[in-house]
Amino acid sequence: MVIGLLILTSIPTVTGVAQAVSAQKNKEQTDKDDRRMKKFHIDIRCGSESAQGAALNEGRIVLKADRLWVGPPNVVEKGGYGYVAEAFYIEYPDPQRTPAPMGLVSQVQDDPPLLNWIYIDKKTMEVKYGNKSTSIDHYIGPWDWTEDEEQVVFDDMEAAFINAFYAVERLPGKWQLFFDMKGDLFANLLPASMKKVQVELHRNMIVTAEEADKKA
Ligand SMILES: *[C@@H]1O[C@H](CO)[C@@H](O)[C@H](O)[C@H]1NC(C)=O
Repeated sequence: MVIGLLILTSIPTVTGVAQAVSAQKNKEQTDKDDRRMKKFHIDIRCGSESAQGAALNEGRIVLKADRLWVGPPNVVEKGGYGYVAEAFYIEYPDPQRTPAPMGLVSQVQDDPPLLNWIYIDKKTMEVKYGNKSTSIDHYIGPWDWTEDEEQVVFDDMEAAFINAFYAVERLPGKWQLFFDMKGDLFANLLPASMKKVQVELHRNMIVTAEEADKKA
């Protein structure tokens, strides 16, 4: 009930702001979109006091079997661990959602190249990837970055915590990415005995060949 009310009362404010800014949607906006579309790897960071934390720290997010996982640090090529995520932000086009929320996408295969949306499964709280028809009924955004643009955050009005990503050890040594939207450490979703480590998602910008040339 509280959530429903929150959304209803928030809409006029959001619309008002949107109208005010749409007036100056010009070059500024284009530059902003360009920055949003710069590709990055997602490297996780977590407290390294525990043995698990130390082992997971700096792991790079990879995509496999419709889900996001913590892969080895610094990988750039796909491997047994999965396809290395190369993410960027773009608006999620859905007439039911206005203004269009910022979505997060990644290429998910090379041949043919295919982009998918990164989203949070409503039932399982897993962070997954999929095409529009697969993702549209789930939490598809808004995705954002922190003020310093260093970290990826998920910012939904229903989220109890804005930054509540967890690596969960689904299989021995295999850590899958989840989002704790309710702030209850997945009480009714995952066994209490399953290891869970809170993680931050850091943007590690990919330098394109063109940018590398300019610097040289
Ligand atoms: C979207 O993905 C699902 C599941 O992988 C697949 O069954 C479906 O054909 C895809 N739809 C489109 C339009 O590509």
